Amino acid sequence: MKLFIDTANIEEIKEINDWGVICGVTTNPSLIAKEGRDFKEVIHEIVSIVDGPISAEVISLNADGMVEEALELAQIHKNIVIKIPMTKDGLKAVSILNKKGIKTNVTLIFSASQALLAARAGATYVSPFVGRMDDISNEGIDIIEDIVDIFDLHGIGTEIISASIRHPMHVIDSAKAGAHIATIPYNVFQTMVKHPMTDLGIERFLKDWEGVPK
Ligand code: E4P
Repeated sequence: MKLFIDTANIEEIKEINDWGVICGVTTNPSLIAKEGRDFKEVIHEIVSIVDGPISAEVISLNADGMVEEALELAQIHKNIVIKIPMTKDGLKAVSILNKKGIKTNVTLIFSASQALLAARAGATYVSPFVGRMDDISNEGIDIIEDIVDIFDLHGIGTEIISASIRHPMHVIDSAKAGAHIATIPYNVFQTMVKHPMTDLGIERFLKDWEGVPK
């Protein structure tokens, strides 16, 4: 399973990119708004840091508007992936963009049937929201399992991005379920990297090292 970072914060992207563990970035309107900066300026900066798929989301709700925004965003860089909400107009826009060779990431997926429609419309990626499903007392990871099964069974090439990740177990469960990618917030990367036994181990090695004759 590949790892993306789910943020629009440049410092966070730089830090985790330097670990060498990510190969893509996802943003959304809320994450962009948190930065208080111009949308396109932020996206320009992100593509200069990470050499992989960078999702930038459209705001329009009608297909024509989505396509118009997508064509502009796609001009920023070859790695731009257009994030499109899972609606009827979204599917129409995905289908048009697919024919133009523009990659899409269908977002706000909450069911396997939505994922199947998005894939058939020509989506490059689908993003089921695991955490937000958990928030409403559903087992978010079940959707990942269902989509993996369906795509495998029918030879569908659309990649599954496990999104709305809240903690390391979401990442592990997504990997076990067979998601192609997990897009992970900065704070979850920080939790994943830590283990008290690692810290203790380092402490003990350094203490023992003091006894090595110099
Ligand atoms: C997906 O690409 C979204 O940006 C993101 O994962 C949403 O997560 P949230 O539910 O924590 O806002």
